[in-house]
Amino acid sequence: MKALFEQSNIGKMQVKNRFIRSATWENMTTEDGHMTDKLYDIYEELAQGGVGLIITGYANIVIEEQPNPGMMGIYDDSFIDEYQKLTELVHTYDSKIVMQLAYGGTKTTHNVGERIIYAPSEVAEKGTNTLGKSMTKAEIDYIIHAFALSAKRAQQAGFDGVEIHGAHTYLINQFLSPYYNRRTDQYGGSLENRMRFLVEVFLQMRKLVGDDFSIMVKLTASEFFEGGLTFAETRVICKTLENIGVDAIEISGNIHGKASTMIGQYFDGYQLQEEGYFVEYGKAISDDVDIPIITVGGLANIETIETILGTTNIAYFAIARPLLSEPHLIKRWQAGDRRPGICEHCSKCRTRRGNFCVVHNKR
Ligand SMILES: Cc1cc2nc3c(=O)[nH]c(=O)nc-3n(C[C@H](O)[C@H](O)[C@H](O)COP(=O)(O)O)c2cc1C
Repeated sequence: MKALFEQSNIGKMQVKNRFIRSATWENMTTEDGHMTDKLYDIYEELAQGGVGLIITGYANIVIEEQPNPGMMGIYDDSFIDEYQKLTELVHTYDSKIVMQLAYGGTKTTHNVGERIIYAPSEVAEKGTNTLGKSMTKAEIDYIIHAFALSAKRAQQAGFDGVEIHGAHTYLINQFLSPYYNRRTDQYGGSLENRMRFLVEVFLQMRKLVGDDFSIMVKLTASEFFEGGLTFAETRVICKTLENIGVDAIEISGNIHGKASTMIGQYFDGYQLQEEGYFVEYGKAISDDVDIPIITVGGLANIETIETILGTTNIAYFAIARPLLSEPHLIKRWQAGDRRPGICEHCSKCRTRRGNFCVVHNKR
């Protein structure tokens, strides 16, 4: 029987428990993505708080593409020293730390018009209405290479791995999506073609960092709209990722903001849950593949988490908002105080002054 507070492995990375801080953009870097004292403090507090693995907020892999202000950068070697300090700090508390790497794309309203934003095809993003430039083959190669170089930098800085952001309608998700990807070359059309961009990002990365460095992927279970990526397709993608050597997959979705109206509804044959939005999807995938599956979304109750652990093959539990309100939640649970996290999942945590819990943890 699996236990929440036991050591396990994601690839070669040993994690002391099954709790993960899911990637959370803090909006607290300098303008060009460099570390600040505030951010070091936040990561130190998280590590002190007992979480086994911390995934950083998404970091931009090319200088010219920053989908949101205050996000971490990893687009050149100038970041290596400061992240070295960060990883050493986190390791002091026996937590592991993975950097999330992202190319945002058209899911942005930040500085639109001031830069070229890439997309698989010229299809406006549904939420932002931002239109991107359909990428040439040379531009695709450039971004694939930038992902791989960024992973190498993360490795040099002492991170325990990286997570490729393939979810939430960012660029990789858009390549996977039949709605956003209307290409007629080898990167569009069939699922195999739509997957090619992600597969090439991973393979080039793996070549640069070697087999001992953990590479995880965050995916959207389904796009939850007619004509979008379906869960059946995501299952095939997960099988492929397992076969090519991805170390773990985090199953998410893009229902933020609409969660309250979507929870309880069935999409692609599975139901969105109030606690653990995508658990049913993660469970199905965890039966399909042998690599660890991470579930994320709406988790704040250790009893629910224990039930999921005991009744599915899901291996890890990623948490974002409850750790903004209570960075020491995991330590509290481990110490025997099993009351649920105080987070109300109100999503008011994104502010112009940085992302923090405006209700409980006024930084
Ligand atoms: C302030 C904030 C920033 C986020 N930043 C990221 C991010 O950088 N990358 C990412 O993949 N998800 C990001 N997310 C989504 C979370 O990782 C997570 O998938 C989502 O919040 C659901 O988990 P929760 O219910 O535990 O908050 C963010 C969420 C919040 C609230």
